[in-house]
Amino acid sequence: MPVNVLFAHNDTNWDVYKGPLEKALTDAGVTANLSRDLPPEDVDYIVYAPSSPLQDFTPFSRAKAVLNLWAGVESITNNETLTIPLARMVDFGLTQGMTEWVTGHVLRHHLDIDYTLRHQDGDWLPRVPPLARDRRVSVLGLGALGSACAQALAELGFPVSGWSRTPKQIDGINCYSGDAGLKATLEQADILVLLLPFTPATENVLNSESLSWMPQGAFVVNPGRGQLIDDDALLDALDDGKIAGATLDVFRVEPLPAEHAYWAHPNVTVTPHIASETRPETASEVIAENIRRGEAGEPFLHLVDRRAGY
Ligand SMILES: NC(=O)c1ccc[n+]([C@@H]2O[C@H](COP(=O)([O-])OP(=O)(O)OC[C@H]3O[C@@H](n4cnc5c(N)ncnc54)[C@H](OP(=O)(O)O)[C@@H]3O)[C@@H](O)[C@H]2O)c1
Repeated sequence: MPVNVLFAHNDTNWDVYKGPLEKALTDAGVTANLSRDLPPEDVDYIVYAPSSPLQDFTPFSRAKAVLNLWAGVESITNNETLTIPLARMVDFGLTQGMTEWVTGHVLRHHLDIDYTLRHQDGDWLPRVPPLARDRRVSVLGLGALGSACAQALAELGFPVSGWSRTPKQIDGINCYSGDAGLKATLEQADILVLLLPFTPATENVLNSESLSWMPQGAFVVNPGRGQLIDDDALLDALDDGKIAGATLDVFRVEPLPAEHAYWAHPNVTVTPHIASETRPETASEVIAENIRRGEAGEPFLHLVDRRAGY
């Protein structure tokens, strides 16, 4: 009997994912009926994007798991109709893309590339940047994405600190956790990277008090979630020079409204939530492996802890 896999996402993504998912399922040895249209009571697995119209999971009486195509799960963790396991996306392509975006923007701030771009006016004014070993980078969130970025930055020579909810040990990274750990991490953040999920515990983690712990003239790079930052506090810190620059990929409201102060601020770079995307080929392998596991009675990978919210 084939397993029935419902693809609950939009038309565009069905066109993009259908081929890679079918190939990955075959490669994983799973005989599957992959469709966008199945009677709910016949569905075994739901491949899911939180933006999907599917919000009531009650009719899916025999489904074994919801397999998310995105890393962020904040819009689904509170769904009370979802009582079966929920797996989030941990994908090689997503991690690699985030590592490239984060190292690119950290290097941009470190090397003051913006200054060079703004001063193509005939004046020969050498400004030699410090070496990476003299610029401290801190990463809030040491999960799939944060730990990969922290390690890549450490390999470039930056002294890297990181902060997580539970204590961690990662080679080459000064790891902190808990409230006291946050202060210590931010005190060493000449450049700060935010890669926390949005949960009740992480909302506004960067606020006027925590910004005050950071070194004068630090930079903020946020590819995590907009809700991690108290926007007014960051704008004040940018205006008084405490924070020299911010590169922001994610916002409380997306698309970021045209009248928002971030667009016009000279020391803010806005990118339109493009830091990293799930890549269909590699992500399909992760989905297929989880379905294989479900059928073999093995534990699912990357399960969400619904109480912790990520
Ligand atoms: N902009 C984009 O294009 C894009 C793309 C993908 C993802 N994202 C964002 O990136 C986030 C991180 O993804 P991921 O795959 O790395 O997530 P993950 O593997 O779940 O890692 C989350 C990390 O945050 C830590 N954390 C959670 N709550 C915390 C708290 N209250 N205090 C301190 N640390 C806390 C976790 O600590 P523990 O290690 O102790 O559990 C873990 O280290 C996603 O949730 C999403 O919002 C953005």
